[in-house]
Amino acid sequence: KTVALIGVPLEEGSGRGGCAMGPAAYRIAGIASALGELGYAVEDRGDLRPQPAADLAPMDRAKHLPVVGAFTRAIEAETYAAATSGAVPILLGGDHSLSMGSVSGMARYAATLDRPLYVLWLDAHSDFNAPETSPSGNIHGMPVAFFCGKAEFAPILPSDRPLVDPRRVYQVGIRSVDEEERRLIRENAVNVFDMRAIDEEGMGSILKRILADVRDAGGLLHVSLDVDFLDPDVAPGVGTTVPGGATFREAHLIMELLHDSGLVSSLDLVELNPFLDDRGRSARIMVELAASLFGKRILDRPTRGG
Ligand code: ARG
Ligand code: MN
Ligand code: MN
Ligand code: MN
Repeated sequence: KTVALIGVPLEEGSGRGGCAMGPAAYRIAGIASALGELGYAVEDRGDLRPQPAADLAPMDRAKHLPVVGAFTRAIEAETYAAATSGAVPILLGGDHSLSMGSVSGMARYAATLDRPLYVLWLDAHSDFNAPETSPSGNIHGMPVAFFCGKAEFAPILPSDRPLVDPRRVYQVGIRSVDEEERRLIRENAVNVFDMRAIDEEGMGSILKRILADVRDAGGLLHVSLDVDFLDPDVAPGVGTTVPGGATFREAHLIMELLHDSGLVSSLDLVELNPFLDDRGRSARIMVELAASLFGKRILDRPTRGG
């Protein structure tokens, strides 16, 4: 089995500098050897560096659109190509706007298999703004709306591209939603498990319900992991920390359940800002979590009670 590492040095969606250093930090933290030791063939496809798109006019309410749009196109194509080659694409971000491309690429791939694409969005934020609703104009707050076809800011991808049904998007860890965004996620019936749901029901139980839905539908599952899903005490290397996040143990449990499910088709590691990190700690934790998702375990047996 092959995993394809796709570096995305993109930070223009985030409104600050630093995320472009993410791919380098993941490589220094040992992502390739961590996955190699688990028995995968690791194909590092290097970093994408597209020129800004000359055909996309700049927009006030979607900052750096020519850069983000060019990345979206390059990422969509590279993710689709990696998946079609039989590999599991792993996007090394880069800010969360990269998911416009990765999820769109996986949606195109899923359509060729005639299987539905599900998305597990592990994040403090819903990232369901449209340019008209965004308080910041930062595109990293918009990717979910984009790949669901609810925020068409410009002709970035073909208008007939496969979209993701928002009812197949499961968001876990949510604790910061903008006023208008709240209305959009409700109207579009996104499945949101906020911190209160996690506290009341427990992470394991929530994940098992989500995985059962995907399995029953014969779906592929794309996982998008934002560093700020984790509590800032666990992972400080991110520009949009929100208190009260997931613990180290909750995050590992998710990854282990995902591995045992065998449903994961692709992974984004996003929003790491090495400039804000504490001696590489957040980068290493993200690599550890990726390793858990790909089968690293404490004991040589499946998780019990699953
Ligand atoms: N909701 C805020 C915005 O739209 C913050 C988004 C944060 N997103 C992220 N991927 N860190 O500007
Ligand atoms: Mn995010
Ligand atoms: Mn976030
Ligand atoms: Mn583990």
